[in-house]
Amino acid sequence: IPVDTFDIIIFGGTGDLSRRKLLPALYHRFVDGQIPEDSRLVGVSRSEMSDKEFRAFAKDACQESTGKDFDSEQWKAFEKLLKYVAMDATDPDADWDTLKAALGQDGRPSIFYLAVTPKIYVAICESIGKAGLAGGDARVVLEKPIGTDLESAKAINAGVGAVFSEDRIYRIDHYLGKETVQNLLVLRFGNTLFEPLWNRTAIDHIQITVSESVGVGDRAGYYDTAGAIRDMVQNHLLQLLCLIAMEPPNSIEADEIRTEKIKVLNALRPMDAKCVGRDTVRAQYGPGTIDGKQVKGYLEELESGESQTETFVAVKAWVDNWRWARVPFYLRTGKRMRSRHSEIVVQFREAPHAMFGEEQAHSNRLIIRLQPDEGVQLYVQIKEPGPGGLRVQSLPLNLSFAESFQVRYPDAYERLLMDVVRGNLALFMRREEVEEAWEWVDGLLDAWADAKVPMYTYSAGLEDGPVEARMLLREDDRDWWSNG
Ligand code: BG6
Repeated sequence: IPVDTFDIIIFGGTGDLSRRKLLPALYHRFVDGQIPEDSRLVGVSRSEMSDKEFRAFAKDACQESTGKDFDSEQWKAFEKLLKYVAMDATDPDADWDTLKAALGQDGRPSIFYLAVTPKIYVAICESIGKAGLAGGDARVVLEKPIGTDLESAKAINAGVGAVFSEDRIYRIDHYLGKETVQNLLVLRFGNTLFEPLWNRTAIDHIQITVSESVGVGDRAGYYDTAGAIRDMVQNHLLQLLCLIAMEPPNSIEADEIRTEKIKVLNALRPMDAKCVGRDTVRAQYGPGTIDGKQVKGYLEELESGESQTETFVAVKAWVDNWRWARVPFYLRTGKRMRSRHSEIVVQFREAPHAMFGEEQAHSNRLIIRLQPDEGVQLYVQIKEPGPGGLRVQSLPLNLSFAESFQVRYPDAYERLLMDVVRGNLALFMRREEVEEAWEWVDGLLDAWADAKVPMYTYSAGLEDGPVEARMLLREDDRDWWSNG
């Protein structure tokens, strides 16, 4: 369904996010006929560049993303949307008139996308305000991370909030745009099957794994100030946890969903120096092998050669409310793991009576696979065929999205960008969500510092994190479900 005509202004237009995600996402939506041909896409960065050069940059980006399917005719139509303005957007006295001229004055929504470091979010918003561009139907999109701790997040939220009202601020977490993540809501609340069982009486524990095979590469400068906790847990993993743990919202209206997510964050048990050594594991990848090739360890990728930043973390978290009492949520994420796979595992309790013998007692398990091979599997107990006695096996009812829906899977950014145009805030974070998540993360990081929690290592590409992460579950007589 086509959206209304809009203008999008990407600050950091020639940056990595713009090249890898934003420009290709807009191109795909255009090719699918969703973006009207009179929309405008303006790249803004400090470096001098002509419109022609920006179009060439965008063409490379879109070509890289589409590969063989790149169509020059479609590109010719798309590139007409593109313009470029060189300026320092933090400076209110910069050449804002050129940007205004590029946009025209036709009352359509302007979407300001801040694909830049969060340190300059406030300054850019203030400049947008002073240039008189924040009024009307203007919206601003903020990339994560919003700050580096609670204090800086509050300052950003206050500064941006002084220019744009909350209903004009789209705080993006691209995990919420992933198909399987949205499907989680439908799975839970569109079926009668799961919700009656979705609590401590039937569920033993939950696992959330986001495992990456990439290292930090050329983002080492940023990553070393963040680490896995700030880069992944504060946002992506906690958002997944919220969707799993939240109460049914009254409707799919943005604020209904967001209010329920905030309640979960409120119920997260704070980490302190006493429990952090027992309930968390942190580690860095050492040298290893990926696809038969030697790769460097994390410390070797840093200029300084030393760091106390984790590239892997595993946490046993608790949601202290009636529904989830005594049900642990095990979270883990890491770079340079054995494979790229992300999934949520809902492990149900064992059947109360082992009628087929203790050794054949399995329990149901629901696996929600985010990537790759998006899909849902429900493991059920089944009798092995044949006359030789009654043997039980655990096998999955398998819903593979690729097989069920033979369509191209849009990237998360495609969905989210169109939601910004449609004014749908449901998949974006409200101010309190970001701040609550930081509060919990700050507590964990402080506790790490106080308790001097050890930094373990694991071999790049060869392990799913350090052996201590496995012990975290073994001590509870459990195991991580998948090792890739
Ligand atoms: C980003 C992190 O938010 O998410 C990256 O900053 C990480 O470090 C990326 O690699 C993972 O996203 P995806 O969609 O590839 O799982």
